[in-house]
Amino acid sequence: MIRTRGLKKIYRTTSEDVIALDGIDMMIGDGELVALSGPSGSGKTTLLNVIGTLDSITDGDIEFDSCSLRTMDEKAKTAFRRLNLGFIFQSYNLIPVLTALENVELAFKPLSRDEMKRLDVSDIRAASMEVLKDVGLEGFEHRKPGELSGGQQQRVSIARAVVRRPSLLLADEPTANLDSTNSRLILQLLARLNERYGITVLYSSHDAQVLGSVRRVVVLKDGRIIEDRIC
Ligand SMILES: Nc1ncnc2c1ncn2[C@@H]1O[C@H](COP(=O)(O)OP(=O)(O)O)[C@@H](O)[C@H]1O
Ligand SMILES: [Mg+2]
Repeated sequence: MIRTRGLKKIYRTTSEDVIALDGIDMMIGDGELVALSGPSGSGKTTLLNVIGTLDSITDGDIEFDSCSLRTMDEKAKTAFRRLNLGFIFQSYNLIPVLTALENVELAFKPLSRDEMKRLDVSDIRAASMEVLKDVGLEGFEHRKPGELSGGQQQRVSIARAVVRRPSLLLADEPTANLDSTNSRLILQLLARLNERYGITVLYSSHDAQVLGSVRRVVVLKDGRIIEDRIC
């Protein structure tokens, strides 16, 4: 489903060029769950951002179902993201004045007017309620982020990311701000969504303990893959 070929990303700053990705060749199959690991500065965030089409690449290519990123202009990339991708961030990125339910419903906001016409407000509400239940937040729908624990807030952001059933879920250090118990629960939840909905999941973590239970771990160092381990 996703194949990167000789992927390079160079950040050009005024003082120096930083080679963040230095020739990444990787294949991720449909429905796979892959963890990216490696020390801070190894290129995890950059790789997630370029696969998520949020950042440009300097050289090489990424293919999504053999559709080359190089052939996509900004408009095509935006459409691709809206249709196929879900994002989860380390800092949850929830809107503090909205309830959990309203935050999940926001996932439908960027739809075009035509797309919206086909969706009823009540359908959106029902789908959002259902996914909140899926992530274990039944009964918490009307709380605002400030009234939820960190782990619960991350569940809301996961619900928002998957409510429209993306084919690929990208998560940059989704457990970085959580204690070990909550980290484990969040990763179990991602594994369950991967299995239940067949969503391909790619997440990063620099916590070796967290990665113990993952089937495939890709380890980066200095922008290169130094290990691709499948247990
Ligand atoms: N916007 C940027 N400008 C310049 N250098 C950057 C930028 N973002 C990241 N880098 C550099 O790219 C390298 C990879 O960073 P990053 O992808 O954030 O790694 P990780 O997520 O594994 O910590 C690091 O050397 C980092 O300093
Ligand atoms: Mg990072």
